[in-house]
Amino acid sequence: MKIEIYPTAAAAEQAVVSKILAQVAQNPQSVLGLATGGTMEAVYGGLISAHERTGTSFAGCASFNLDEYLDLSANDPNSYRSYMESKFFDHVDLPRDRCYLPDVGPDPEASAARYENLIREVGPVDLQLLGIGGNGHIGFNEPLTPFSTTTHVTDLSPKTIEANARYFVHKNEVPRRAITMGIATILSARSVVLLATGRQKASAILAAIKGPKTERCPASALQGHESVTFVLDSLAGSALEDVSLYAIS
Ligand code: PGA
Repeated sequence: MKIEIYPTAAAAEQAVVSKILAQVAQNPQSVLGLATGGTMEAVYGGLISAHERTGTSFAGCASFNLDEYLDLSANDPNSYRSYMESKFFDHVDLPRDRCYLPDVGPDPEASAARYENLIREVGPVDLQLLGIGGNGHIGFNEPLTPFSTTTHVTDLSPKTIEANARYFVHKNEVPRRAITMGIATILSARSVVLLATGRQKASAILAAIKGPKTERCPASALQGHESVTFVLDSLAGSALEDVSLYAIS
């Protein structure tokens, strides 16, 4: 496990952008695992600017998003497909037919199984980008999700509904269910980069990195992965006791 702590959120975000660009430079046919959420917006901004300014091309890549809400139509502005289109896909040359998100058809269980098979067929994912919830979730794998799960239908925890309510007019509009890659699916990626910024992530980061490997903190499953990097700003890293060991100035 590698831990990098940057003085600011902007520096941490830029470090993640650089890791993704290095992956694509090293293998232009990379399969990228992508994430949504507020933390990732600057990462997509950085990738778009690399595409526009220096001609970085994603034309040979494919991408798999971690998750998608159920009970919203795919073109609802709050769907993760809409997020990805407006914040990334519309601005780069990733082939649209290779930008995969779980599909929200009439049979979610079957969609989840299809998505898992597709990841196995097209993957493995070379670099999986992750955020983390304040409750330690990765994707929508909420606390107590077994580490053996593959892509599945899940209920959002009350904490996640609360955290995501900021994107909706009313809290009761937040979908209660989603399809998410499972923890085993996430662990099947060749490398994982988890980005966390802000003090509200500090206790989840502490539990993920230093706590016991337990289903109470889904991100602690990453302790078992052979190539995982936690990229943090100083606030997200502030609960770690030995911060100076990982500080990057
Ligand atoms: P956030 O979400 O970036 O909006 O905090 C992260 C997550 O819940 O995984």
